[in-house]
Amino acid sequence: MRAVVLVSGNGSNLQALIDATAAGELELDLAAVISNRADAYGLDRARRAGIEAVCVPSRGVTDRSDYDRLLAHAVETHAADLIILAGFMRILGAPFVERFAGRILNIHPSLLPKFPGLDTHRRVLAAGEAEHGCTVHFVTQELDGGPRIIQGRLRVRKNEDPAALAERVLALEHLVYPRAAALFADGRIRCVDGYCELDGTRLDAPLQLAT
Ligand code: GRF
Repeated sequence: MRAVVLVSGNGSNLQALIDATAAGELELDLAAVISNRADAYGLDRARRAGIEAVCVPSRGVTDRSDYDRLLAHAVETHAADLIILAGFMRILGAPFVERFAGRILNIHPSLLPKFPGLDTHRRVLAAGEAEHGCTVHFVTQELDGGPRIIQGRLRVRKNEDPAALAERVLALEHLVYPRAAALFADGRIRCVDGYCELDGTRLDAPLQLAT
């Protein structure tokens, strides 16, 4: 199975995916890494791993559907079966999401449906949550709202600051995302009628990473 990974920045989740394929834990051909920013460190990570690094610049493209068309073309050039969003900081429009329905994964730094959107760690602390974590989900038109696949959770520490919490969640993401990608690559999970199916059975709740 061929995948493209979309990044906008550091790409530490991309690195986790690269490492998992190298370790034989994830059977996926990472065909290309695509970024909307030429200076994304994720592109350097791709080059270093011998993966094609592609920039589809979003700067100067004011219309979202124009940009999405360029992006779709880049994805199709690489004949990707799966699109993995890994810190891709652009919202994808409905035509793009429809075109690749059931084939786009995203990782979000919260226990969805709690805390969709940005700045999750600070908001989790402000709300006094006891638990936090990350979620991999299929991408639908609802922002951070598609069928959830797997979560990793942790207990918030007393007096923890947002940066420390973010760091711990990110480390969890690096375990959870390769696991989710492997489930997809092995044909075990599918997005059917707005739900996630595991081995043909609808999941009522996301899987939980065993820690
Ligand atoms: C992660 O926190 C991920 O959950 C969010 O964007 C961040 C990407 O980090 N979607 P990195 O670029 O993979 O290091």
